[in-house]
Amino acid sequence: MSSTTNLFSPTKLGAHTLPNRIVMAPMTRLRAVDSIPNSVMATYYAQRASAGLIVTECTMVSPMSNGYMNCPGIYSPEQVEGWKQVTQAVHDRGGKIFLQLWHSGRVSHPSLLNGELPVAPSAVAGEGTLHSPIGKVTLETPRALETQEIPEIVEQFRQGAVNAVEAGFDGVELHGAFGYLIDQFLQDGSNQRTDKYGGSIENRARFLLEVVSGVTSVWGGEKVGIKLSPSNTFYGMKDSDSQGIFSYVIDKLNPFNLAYIHLMEPNEVDLANRQVLNPVLPIFRPIYQGTIITNGGYDRQAGNNVLSTGDADLVSFGKLFISNPDLPKRFQLEADLNTPNPKTFYGKGDQDLELGYIDYPFMEIQTE
Ligand SMILES: Cc1cc2nc3c(=O)[nH]c(=O)nc-3n(C[C@H](O)[C@H](O)[C@H](O)COP(=O)(O)O)c2cc1C
Repeated sequence: MSSTTNLFSPTKLGAHTLPNRIVMAPMTRLRAVDSIPNSVMATYYAQRASAGLIVTECTMVSPMSNGYMNCPGIYSPEQVEGWKQVTQAVHDRGGKIFLQLWHSGRVSHPSLLNGELPVAPSAVAGEGTLHSPIGKVTLETPRALETQEIPEIVEQFRQGAVNAVEAGFDGVELHGAFGYLIDQFLQDGSNQRTDKYGGSIENRARFLLEVVSGVTSVWGGEKVGIKLSPSNTFYGMKDSDSQGIFSYVIDKLNPFNLAYIHLMEPNEVDLANRQVLNPVLPIFRPIYQGTIITNGGYDRQAGNNVLSTGDADLVSFGKLFISNPDLPKRFQLEADLNTPNPKTFYGKGDQDLELGYIDYPFMEIQTE
């Protein structure tokens, strides 16, 4: 990569050619009433189609993977139909869109799961609270999955990938980050199993690698990405040797020839919580031979800087894409940015779906 590589340098991402290196990071917005994607969501994603790549909000692969009210799924025919209008709208604007496949694991509550306990590698509760149909609740101790149940969940991810093909996506990203099920299997703070899915680093990586095998059997490696967060402490995530487990996993991902790995840097809360790997990129760049998307707190200048070092190949932006549907244009013109309003990040029931979602203004383009 030359030192002039910047956010506007076109690039190959697996099987796709992208006009820029600006990725819209996956963001849960909780506007999918009854878990079915709708026309307001189609408008939201289409508004942001000038990103080199859009990664959708995390999306349930099964009813038991639910962690939030009104997040979308990809396991029912109605959900697949709903997503078709989203992919069509993005493609009509010339964009590319990957679906983020997700299982929440222990980050859930019986009130979101028809009264059942959330499932996890081990009966170890995550830390913190979440919003549920009965209000704000503390995370409870989940039920440890039986060994024979685990292949069923791998199959749900594979089926989600099949459904994503039907829904018209350009690829899928596995949510392996932020303390959800895949991450729960990886890290020994949440995985205390004694079967082939727990104990050694090799065993704790097994679930992730089985899911990657399942999903790449549908899409081929070149249209699959995975998001990992070695330094993220959400929901009490921790490991006794973060560098060891993540180095192993990232090395094992090399032969899959994935479209990319999406690597999170720690945020201020992670840095305040405890000592974490920081920065993440220089530790894992030498281990991974493929494409890396970096994420976490970037602006235009920081994005251009990291691309010029060659440590990352693309940069994803989260909150700035919430408030700036035309973020690439604004970056290109070094224009002012709209400020995101955290109060409307998440939808509240089926009211005001559009507020703080599709009403952020585009730049006014001077024609004269
Ligand atoms: C409202 C909101 C929802 C998010 N939902 C998801 C999600 O569904 N999946 C995911 O991997 N990350 C999610 N994230 C994290 C972002 O993808 C990104 O990692 C984070 O915002 C840091 O990037 P930024 O500093 O550019 O915002 C979410 C972030 C925000 C602000």
